[in-house]
Amino acid sequence: MSMRRIGAWVASMMLAAAPALAHAAASSEQQQGMTIFQHGGHGIQACVSCHGSQARGGMGPRLAGLGRAYIIRQLHDFSSDTRHNRAMETEVKHLDATSMRQVATWIATLKPHRSSQSPRIKSSISKLITEGDWSRSIPACIDCHAGTLMGDSDEIPALAGQQHGYIAKRLRWFKALKTPFGPPARIMSNVASQLSDQEITDLAKALSSLNGTTVSSLKKEYSGDLTRHTGIKESKKISPSPGAALPISKPLAEAIQHGEQIFMNTPVQARAYVGKNSRLSCVHCHLNRGRLATAAPMWAAAIRYPLYRKKNHRVNTLAMRIQGCFRYSLNGAPPPPNSNTMVDLIAYIHWLGSGQVMGSQPIAHGFPPIAKAAQRPDKLRGADLFRMRCALCHGLNGQGKVRDKKVLFPPLWGAHSFNWGAGLHRVDKAAAFIKANMPYGAGNSLNTQDAWDIAAFVESHPRPEDPRFTGNIAETTRRFHPHRDVDFYATSHPQE
Ligand code: HEC
Ligand code: HEC
Ligand code: HEC
Ligand code: HEC
Repeated sequence: MSMRRIGAWVASMMLAAAPALAHAAASSEQQQGMTIFQHGGHGIQACVSCHGSQARGGMGPRLAGLGRAYIIRQLHDFSSDTRHNRAMETEVKHLDATSMRQVATWIATLKPHRSSQSPRIKSSISKLITEGDWSRSIPACIDCHAGTLMGDSDEIPALAGQQHGYIAKRLRWFKALKTPFGPPARIMSNVASQLSDQEITDLAKALSSLNGTTVSSLKKEYSGDLTRHTGIKESKKISPSPGAALPISKPLAEAIQHGEQIFMNTPVQARAYVGKNSRLSCVHCHLNRGRLATAAPMWAAAIRYPLYRKKNHRVNTLAMRIQGCFRYSLNGAPPPPNSNTMVDLIAYIHWLGSGQVMGSQPIAHGFPPIAKAAQRPDKLRGADLFRMRCALCHGLNGQGKVRDKKVLFPPLWGAHSFNWGAGLHRVDKAAAFIKANMPYGAGNSLNTQDAWDIAAFVESHPRPEDPRFTGNIAETTRRFHPHRDVDFYATSHPQE
């Protein structure tokens, strides 16, 4: 990334992050934006002439449904020579930063038209959309573009119902992009570079035929198929693919499926055991439904327990280990071993692990170890990096994003996140997790020092109390957080 390009990216971030406007100012900004949009002026051609009266598309793509921050970023990209299109480059020559903000504010208020087409989509394409293909490091499109594929109304664009020629063109462009000019483009170009030309054509057709409702019916088609789970790099595949050859009774199959649902949406499916304010689900830390080799995979856990853990000085069964994640990571109350919640989770985890030898060494477990940082982790450096690499999804305030009542991007600190006793609260664990898995869709793209600095920043924020808190900070730290006292990044730690 050249300095000029970095400069352009930072400038567009600052535009997008301009402080929230007072209500009156915001509505006058909207008014002015509407005038530009409908009438142009000062050398600006009215946007309606190409994007249609309600921004539903014409010669140019649909803009209704895009978020303000995303629109500002694109206008800035056209004007800083990073995104090319003759019509738009001419247009933005006459737009200064203020009019870009105004017109973006107006467009962001427009609602897209929802078509009533009934899409017919190949199952391999539905699968890319709703599950991704992790053997090529492609997360599901819905993981970032939201479950309805209508975007996050902020930074990530809506896809459902967009013109198919435009989607295909953009995917080809991201695929060919050699030096992405900013973190968002880098994330999307990682995804697109893995798609074949045929997939791009098929995805574009599929996405343009979808609307918010039809996406959820696509999802139904997939949930509950018990033979499709692989999702580990071919070279590392455990053999046979999990669960494929198991003779499964109907009640067991139902338990496995319910276990998967709990895993994917824990606060709803296991409400009694999740902290009142927690928004986290198992999948937020154990990616790809608990199958990703670099995010403490469940197929490994299935053959690792019982195991002695220094964290509680005793031999732990798998159920006890799961209870630990409920207590600390979900800030809740552990489900009893015989509860349906625990039984179904264990059914799911064992099913993922089937085909391996019990007690043998799994090909991976936990997070890949991270090397020591050259310099002591610095949360101020981490704060800058966080703004550049993480805020896109988790927000500048780290609170993530909720869309259509579902957590799209999870909170990293504060009342809705994991508590002080959680494994991820340790800076070394967080650094290892972040290095291998974040930014989502671009794992392993941070260098070691950056991962440590960002982890130090994330862990410097308040979060719920450790349930083991003795009433005395020094004593609690000594007993349960020894790694916070010592030079925590330099040594390995007593806790498992
Ligand atoms: C002469 C036609 C024309 C006019 C006028 C025009 N646009 Fe565009 N616009 C386009 C085309 C074509 C594209 C698609 C560019 C591409 O393929 O990358 C586009 C793309 C965009 C995008 C990117 C959309 C996305 O999903 O990434 C935004 C934002 C945008 N225009 C905003 C505007 C605004 C705001 C105005 C008025 C100030 C405007 N446009 C006026 C033709 C036009
Ligand atoms: C890890 C997150 C992530 C995933 C997964 C993802 N995207 Fe994106 N996508 C983005 C981001 C971020 C952008 C905005 C890029 C920019 O601003 O330059 C984007 C932009 C796009 C655009 C441009 C839209 C426009 O209006 O110009 C298309 C098309 C797109 N994505 C398609 C897909 C498809 C298809 C999939 C699934 C195969 C997918 N994306 C998966 C993050 C993601
Ligand atoms: C906030 C993040 C987070 C959430 C949410 C979370 N976990 Fe964990 N989990 C971890 C961390 C960190 C580890 C320890 C990884 C390591 O060994 O380094 C772990 C380990 C585990 C292990 C043991 C893995 C092994 O190989 O030893 C199991 C089993 C497990 N979690 C199950 C769950 C289940 C089930 C849920 C949902 C009820 C859940 N976790 C929610 C962070 C989380
Ligand atoms: C493109 C969007 C995106 C970006 C950028 C991104 N994340 Fe995430 N992050 C996610 C998603 C999605 C999950 C949950 C994974 C899942 O549901 O499969 C997640 C999960 C996490 C978690 C575990 C869950 C929790 O709430 O604690 C941490 C920690 C985390 N991200 C940190 C980061 C850090 C640090 C960065 C910047 C280096 C970053 N992320 C950048 C999308 C993103």
